[in-house]
Amino acid sequence: MKYGYFDDKAREYVITRPDTPMPWINYIGCEGYFGILSATAGGYSYYKDARLRRLTRGRYNNVPLDFGGRYIYVRDNADGSFFSPSWMPVRGKLDDYSCRHGMGYSVISGKKNGIAASTRYFVPMGENLEIWDFTVTNERAESADLSIFSIAEFCLWDAQDDATNFQRNFSTGQVEVEDEVIYHKTEYRERRNHFAWFACSEKLTGFDTQREAFLGPWRGWEDPKAVAEGKSGDSIAHGWQPVASNHIKLSLKPGETRRIVFVLGYHENPRDQKFDPPNSQTINKKLVKPTIAKFRDPKNVDAAFAALKENWDTLLGKIQVQTPDVHTDRMVNVWNAYQCMATFNMSRSASTFESGIGRGLGFRDSNQDLLGFVHMVPERARQRILDLAATQFASGGAYHQYQPMTKKGNNDIGGGFNDDPHWLIIGVAQYLKETGDFSILDEKVPFDTTPGTEVPLYEHLRRSIQYALDNIGPHGLPLIGQADWNDCLNLNCFSDEPGQSFQCLKGATDGKTAESVFIGGLMVLSCKELAGVAKAAGKPGDVETYLELAQKMDETVRKHGWDGEWFLRAYDNFGKKIGSHENEEGKIYIEPQGFCVIAGIGVEDGTARKALDSVNKHLATKHGIVLQQPAYTRYYIELGEISSYPPGYKENAGIFCHNNPWVIIAETILGNGDQAHDYYTRICPSAREEISDLHKNEPYVFSQMIAGKDAPTHGEAKNSWLTGTAAWTFFAATAYILGIRAEYDGLRVQPVIPKAWDGFTATRVFRGVTFDISVKRAGKGNRVALTVDGKAIDGTIVPLPKDGAKTVKVEAVLS
Ligand code: BGC
Ligand code: NOJ
Repeated sequence: MKYGYFDDKAREYVITRPDTPMPWINYIGCEGYFGILSATAGGYSYYKDARLRRLTRGRYNNVPLDFGGRYIYVRDNADGSFFSPSWMPVRGKLDDYSCRHGMGYSVISGKKNGIAASTRYFVPMGENLEIWDFTVTNERAESADLSIFSIAEFCLWDAQDDATNFQRNFSTGQVEVEDEVIYHKTEYRERRNHFAWFACSEKLTGFDTQREAFLGPWRGWEDPKAVAEGKSGDSIAHGWQPVASNHIKLSLKPGETRRIVFVLGYHENPRDQKFDPPNSQTINKKLVKPTIAKFRDPKNVDAAFAALKENWDTLLGKIQVQTPDVHTDRMVNVWNAYQCMATFNMSRSASTFESGIGRGLGFRDSNQDLLGFVHMVPERARQRILDLAATQFASGGAYHQYQPMTKKGNNDIGGGFNDDPHWLIIGVAQYLKETGDFSILDEKVPFDTTPGTEVPLYEHLRRSIQYALDNIGPHGLPLIGQADWNDCLNLNCFSDEPGQSFQCLKGATDGKTAESVFIGGLMVLSCKELAGVAKAAGKPGDVETYLELAQKMDETVRKHGWDGEWFLRAYDNFGKKIGSHENEEGKIYIEPQGFCVIAGIGVEDGTARKALDSVNKHLATKHGIVLQQPAYTRYYIELGEISSYPPGYKENAGIFCHNNPWVIIAETILGNGDQAHDYYTRICPSAREEISDLHKNEPYVFSQMIAGKDAPTHGEAKNSWLTGTAAWTFFAATAYILGIRAEYDGLRVQPVIPKAWDGFTATRVFRGVTFDISVKRAGKGNRVALTVDGKAIDGTIVPLPKDGAKTVKVEAVLS
């Protein structure tokens, strides 16, 4: 069952009924000001940090789940009836409803009794504000006398505090109202450098800034007193819960349309700007008045929307494909790329499933996310790399996460996730292949963000490998530390103390025994990548060093990391195998199968094929590939959080989508395009649209997890949007199935597509040059013959044009 449809041309998903199985959200904002926006106008906004600069309130684990947002009420003053065009929060029956989620905007429309209203929400480029561009049409044969009420609920203080520290917060709220603009200045008193404001393009009939005055005592959002009575209280908030509500009365002739622009803005003085006027308790409104005036004019709103569209056209224009498969096309061309940008902007902070008050940016996560966005925003990716590298320690280890506001590492989690340092190499190598900007390797980057410790970025990469060499276990495999990619495989964290849960207990073991075969595979790849960096950067001595290390670890993995039919997962603190046929549960894990093959281990001697066949036999389901089998039926203290989940969920045999593309890539490396694309389709949200009632999450973005075959809810997705799945599936589809991938010497075109495809076409902008690619099948194999601008070339890498040409025509024939 579906709840809408893809409008591919408009790059929109159109939701046609509001009662989706989960909140189906979109994001607005792509620079500093961000918001979550659900199809029923739910969600909140923040500036840069979803915890420290939260602008509007988020409610957690609420009933219904999606509650609180950017609400507008339309009241018929003739009979006092009212509705929300976004369905929520009034939730009455609408005669018509739709939500069009697009690139950085959503249009939510609802109609009742001949009154049609629609709001386009978006954040203009270069501004710290959001627009609610509202239009209402009287489709009746007679005039309509309407009242429009808007409301935003402020929360401009620490969002965690907002949910806990009422003894303070209920006494701090303060507002000012001037020229019909509502200013929320609660934090201004103390910090004196930022505030929020809410303005409207129309003359106001009334306003409210105190939530209880708007709602009335003991009333809910579905029936606010102000709306029911058709009259605002003109309230001025003192403590309690400051809000911004506008009331506008309109008289509409038959057929008449009116437009009202509401704007919610944030202002922050630049750091070096002295507070002005000194020690004032009054907001310096002249700082924002020009912006308010600008967006009160709908012409400027239209121009801002056009600029936003253009921004997305440029970003998505970097790669566009036309294949025989509609799902591949719409994911690659629109939604998967869009999701990759969401992971760039949000990392893992704010979604339906992430509260915005938890983690900062992950070292591992952001480095991997780079694979999905570096081609769209290379300059911003460059800065991200430098920020990440600056949280590395001199040992080569790294903070697991850092805070976006301060850019400093999170002390509470610290380091010791022994896969982390390798991802920096993978990320930097991808950046270099995409951009050819080797100057980044000479950038001076500190350790632990400590001034005076700066060394070139290249030295950070070398330390990543040094860290691995300093942390080798008894079998010669890398020690796992707190965990590797699988955060929940905690082999060093347990304690015999009764009552201890999975929370990783640092120092619980000496950490010198538990080893990870997965990191072994990852290290083979990172050493090869670092050798590639060294070669391209002209450091020949290092090429040999890192290739030798890769070779040595490859041998170790084959010797101590092979179980006979598949790669082992790990050795635990007692030297016992994990992910082996010898185990009763958790006999086979997905991570080392996909990743070791990507690293090239066993590709020549057939072990790689065996490993992937075992994946197919033991782990593949029609909804995707599960993480391990058999699932853990009970809690194992020596394995940690992984066994804390019931069978079929998350890391305990859930379909952890993030590592499905590793197997997809691995299948293409072994030349199996049919299997690769089949696996891709199983987790592809667009291909799952028809089963939206089972899948539950948005059909336009990947989810982190789909319940595995051991769960009663097999096929149900959770944790949409903010997941490494976005980058990895984008990378798997574009760079491996379609085979268009950035290399140091040019653009590789080496597709491994399904046999049934007769070809595809693509445009890829690479280092400023547009490559027009057409691929045709002359036989069922993967052998590629390339013609570039009419001339046949050897190999599969198309070099950049020497004559400075801006377009290259590439024809590939597969046989
Ligand atoms: C989740 C993991 C996640 C980790 C982050 C765990 O509870 O299962 O998927 O990586 O939290 O800290
Ligand atoms: C989600 C985390 O963000 C990611 O870093 C981790 O690799 C996976 N969960 C698996 O545990």
